[in-house]
Amino acid sequence: MAIQKVGVAGCGLMGSGIAQTAAQAGFTVVVREVSDDLLKKGLATIEKNLNRLVEKGSLGAPDRDRVMGRVKGTTEIEELADCDIVIEAIVEQLQPKIEFFAQLDRLCPKTAIFASNTSSLSITELSAATRRPDRFLGLHFFNPVPVMKLVEVVRTIATDSAAYEETVAFAGKLGKTPVRTGDRTGFIVNRLLVPYLLDAIRVLQDGLASTVDIDNSMKLGCGYPMGPLTLLDFVGLDTTYYIANVMFDEFREPRFAPPALLKRMVLAGWHGRKSGRGFYDYADPKNPKPVPLTF
Ligand code: CAA
Ligand code: NAD
Repeated sequence: MAIQKVGVAGCGLMGSGIAQTAAQAGFTVVVREVSDDLLKKGLATIEKNLNRLVEKGSLGAPDRDRVMGRVKGTTEIEELADCDIVIEAIVEQLQPKIEFFAQLDRLCPKTAIFASNTSSLSITELSAATRRPDRFLGLHFFNPVPVMKLVEVVRTIATDSAAYEETVAFAGKLGKTPVRTGDRTGFIVNRLLVPYLLDAIRVLQDGLASTVDIDNSMKLGCGYPMGPLTLLDFVGLDTTYYIANVMFDEFREPRFAPPALLKRMVLAGWHGRKSGRGFYDYADPKNPKPVPLTF
């Protein structure tokens, strides 16, 4: 069965990017949010990104309108019922994801493929909330989705090979490079990336260097496109905190333990760029200022 209609759950940082990418690749897309306001915000992000492409001349205005026309926003989960694949990109917490998939499972035909964009939760555990573990897998995109070329395609011990191969091919049709991996928390990229990001917070927490100097060190010394503290703000400190907790729970290694400073920042509501404040203040988003930290 060829995938034609794509459902996306969540229109935040990742869901909006996944919906945009699928629509640009020619798929019909339904994206579901929990409130009209959040849906409006997510769709506005897609429109803004497409407009940027028009301004740069890499997309014609009629094409932008056609892409936007392929994206339907909704707050009703029932609208996902006739999608060939549903990609879940909601908050990185087990219970909301389980509730979402259990409800979706009752609405969709057995043939539909369910995929989670989770960064760290167990795909097997999520699949157990449904009656289709054979058509359940991980499809892990990277932020910003329209730009980053990689997708990790994650299979569990129960994933059917035909459904897996179909999803690998689908990732290719999105213009991404799929890599194959199994269901261990963090898959490939976060297994390597998360300890590095947490170490950067520990370096700051230990008073070894300033926010800007830590970021410049990795940018200018190692050629990374963003310093680790800028990247943490970009990913979301809340999301990183959830990921670190899940990874620590699985591996029980100190390198995955969330540093106290990260926890305090999340408790204070400092979620990074999306909330306006993290390691940097984004009052002027084009010119972020390091936040002086006293702890
Ligand atoms: N959405 C869509 N497109 C965007 C974008 C966004 N949020 N931000 C930038 N872009 C596009 C720009 O339009 C531009 O496109 P063109 O090349 O066609 O002109 C291109 O990206 C480069 O942008 P800029 O010139 O403005 O800025 P830059 O050169 O600094 O690149 C970046 C921006 C691509 C984000 C780059 O800084 C980068 O690669 N950063 C690292 C990102 C990263 O590591 N992502 C992975 C995070 S971990 C993860 O996602 C997994 C997890 O589970 C947590
Ligand atoms: P986000 O907070 O920006 O967006 C999540 C959105 O999901 C919110 O807008 C929320 O209202 C919505 N939502 C919550 N419950 C919902 C439901 N039942 N149905 C529909 N929408 C619902 O978070 P994000 O950064 O986009 O992360 C989403 C997922 O993607 C997480 O699992 C995260 O680990 C993963 N991920 C994040 C990144 C990243 O860099 N931020 C990268 C790769 C994967």
